[in-house]
Amino acid sequence: MAGFHSKFDTLRWCDGRLEMIDQRLLPAEVAYISYESAASVADGIRDMVVRGAPAIGCAAAYGVALEALRMQRRSAEEFKTGLDSAFEVLAASRPTAVNLFWALARMREIWQSCVPGDVKASAACLLDAAHQIFHADIAANRRMGEFGAELIADGASILTHCNAGALATAGHGTALGVIRSAVEAGKKISVFADETRPFLQGARLTAWELMQDGIPVTLIADNAAGHLMSRGEIDVIIVGADRIAANGDVANKVGTYQVAVLAQRHRIPFYVAAPLSTIDAQIADGSEIPIEERAASEVRGYRDLQWAPKLVNVRNPVFDVTPAELVTGLITELGVVLAPNTEKIAQLLRSAER
Ligand code: MRU
Repeated sequence: MAGFHSKFDTLRWCDGRLEMIDQRLLPAEVAYISYESAASVADGIRDMVVRGAPAIGCAAAYGVALEALRMQRRSAEEFKTGLDSAFEVLAASRPTAVNLFWALARMREIWQSCVPGDVKASAACLLDAAHQIFHADIAANRRMGEFGAELIADGASILTHCNAGALATAGHGTALGVIRSAVEAGKKISVFADETRPFLQGARLTAWELMQDGIPVTLIADNAAGHLMSRGEIDVIIVGADRIAANGDVANKVGTYQVAVLAQRHRIPFYVAAPLSTIDAQIADGSEIPIEERAASEVRGYRDLQWAPKLVNVRNPVFDVTPAELVTGLITELGVVLAPNTEKIAQLLRSAER
């Protein structure tokens, strides 16, 4: 089967600007927003125009590049002040997905390696680095897809949570990338997509993406997953990740943890597909991962439709942590780490340095 080519771009560089598909409007409307500064990209990340860990990282890299281009006719001192505040505003946009901080650290390294004082050359170099981060993400997803596809049996029924597709990355996707690659390899696959309350990434984005590619997808309410597992209707679970601690604990969209617990109960393999840029070796275990809490209105209702009592107390943590012991395997661009733990992850990271 021929490879899938997305009919949309999550982000694209166009005439000196960054364009991002407005994921808040999908699937009803396909519209792009154009960005010219780091501050506006940070708003786009915070407001969920773009979301998904690797896509957020790519957007942040382009945010830095945009700011550098905006400042390229200024003095070296003004350029430095402008870029320092660009890094700051982007780093404050969302807390959990480590790809954001990984991309910013990469961009800072590149900046530091530029000729000091040559503002124009630095801007060109930073734009080039952003393009590289973008293309490397697609390549990593393709590799993950190849490794992951080998784990999937022909005819498998796969459950996924949230959206870890092309929309959450520069292209192809992590969890959905594995599914796409398995289909490309000729396997007959069907997918159950958790709707993923409160922001409905599964219902709005995963269902839409898979339907675009003609991959059979069935949407379920989040709380139907256990029932389907108990009836033997799910063979394997694949999700993405926002941050993986050094011991293999995985932060991903809230609700992932309960899916993993149910998977263990029903002896269903639970895989996490994520690039190395999602591993945070600085954090020993999941308890240290910052968990974003978002607006109460996301839980009281959706968009303008608010169905809960206006004044009801709400908690809205949007990520949770799945302990490594519940993870059957970590699918990365360097291969699959079965039963991940601190030692195996350190070894994986060492092999990346070689
Ligand atoms: O709040 P979101 O939509 O940014 O959360 C996204 C997820 O939790 C994804 O599963 C994760 O980023 C992996 S995307 C390849």
